[in-house]
Amino acid sequence: MKVNILLLSISVLALSACGPYEPEPLKKAKVNDSKLIAQANSIFGVLPESAPNEANPSSEEKILLGHHLYFDNLLSLQQTQSCNTCHDLATYGVDRLPTSKGDNGGFGDRNSPTVLNAALHMTQFWDGREPDVEAQAGGPILNPVEMAMPSEEELIARLESNPTYQDLFKAAYPEQENPFTYTNVRLAIADFERQLLTPARFDAYLQKDSTALTELEKTGLSTFINEGCITCHSGPLLGGNMYQKFGLFGNYWEYTNSEEHDEGRFTVTQSEGDRYMFKVPSMRNIAETYPYFHDGSVKDLKEAIRIMGKLQLNKELTEEQVLALEAFLKSLTGTVPESYQKAPQSTS
Ligand code: HEC
Ligand code: HEC
Repeated sequence: MKVNILLLSISVLALSACGPYEPEPLKKAKVNDSKLIAQANSIFGVLPESAPNEANPSSEEKILLGHHLYFDNLLSLQQTQSCNTCHDLATYGVDRLPTSKGDNGGFGDRNSPTVLNAALHMTQFWDGREPDVEAQAGGPILNPVEMAMPSEEELIARLESNPTYQDLFKAAYPEQENPFTYTNVRLAIADFERQLLTPARFDAYLQKDSTALTELEKTGLSTFINEGCITCHSGPLLGGNMYQKFGLFGNYWEYTNSEEHDEGRFTVTQSEGDRYMFKVPSMRNIAETYPYFHDGSVKDLKEAIRIMGKLQLNKELTEEQVLALEAFLKSLTGTVPESYQKAPQSTS
């Protein structure tokens, strides 16, 4: 006992001799930037500058038409909503609701994911049921719990009788005799969505700017790599490139308090192995796209991170790890070009 007290007083003396008390994590060796940058580049990679699709060649005119359509309530039956209602570009491409209200006032079952960087996902929707943004864009317009238009023809008739769209469609598809087709609506919206990429501070770090991230964010990046988040969240989007079961180490609904037990990709393939499989979401802009998970059941990012540790890795993450991971994820917040955050000038 005496020895212990002696040791204690010596260490207190030693500490006070070294100046103010430093909490543990700060005393750790500083991150070796060149090593971490090389490692991160091999796992993730910088966000590409564009997301082209050979089958949908981009043009300024097509993007402009898509921009108009994206913000236009004409696309919904009672003219109550546009794509931007559920995927608001002023709030990182989401409406921040657990699930969204459709044109008829009823709610869907799933959380509206962000459209930002979505063009780079391997497939679209939480269950991957559409291959790309071109195919996806046709869905919500006719979906009875979303925009609820009764038919493609009805939408086309609406657009065709609008003088603004006469000019916009002709300019976007100059070589076509009749540019007013549902396919052309999809292609224009998709071309617009392909512009919605959001480089962030993390990309500057990958490009060797070691000052782009704080020490805590770098610790978070190391944690993200070393604790195994990267098994699923990899590539330039830190996700979006594979399906994985939600709840490898337990039933997800016991952690998220989800009311429904959404079976994910099983609903598309009816294949047993796909039960509770979801597309791994991108981590880009994640701090801004709450609430989390396919049903928006979790509001807080730290809680979502803890649940991931438990359900996907069977790990109880420490509070320090959670804070560092959260800080790192915040460094993935990018910016949407200002002009795309609102409707183009002439839209009514
Ligand atoms: C009523 C709200 C609502 C409207 C309006 C709406 N969406 Fe969505 N959107 C959703 C929901 C909910 C999902 C996810 C559904 C699922 O995965 O089953 C989704 C998914 C998507 C995705 C897939 C993203 C990903 O990460 O997989 C894209 C892209 C998208 N919508 C674009 C659009 C476009 C373009 C329009 C307009 C033509 C539109 N949405 C209109 C609610 C809406
Ligand atoms: C085994 C695969 C796997 C691992 C490992 C994994 N995740 Fe996930 N992650 C997923 C899947 C699948 C989802 C989507 C779950 C759902 O909503 O259905 C997800 C969702 C998330 C979400 C919510 C995304 C959103 O848009 O709502 C966050 C945040 C997240 N993961 C962070 C992490 C972190 C941090 C780690 C490491 C501690 C991690 N994940 C490890 C597969 C994984």
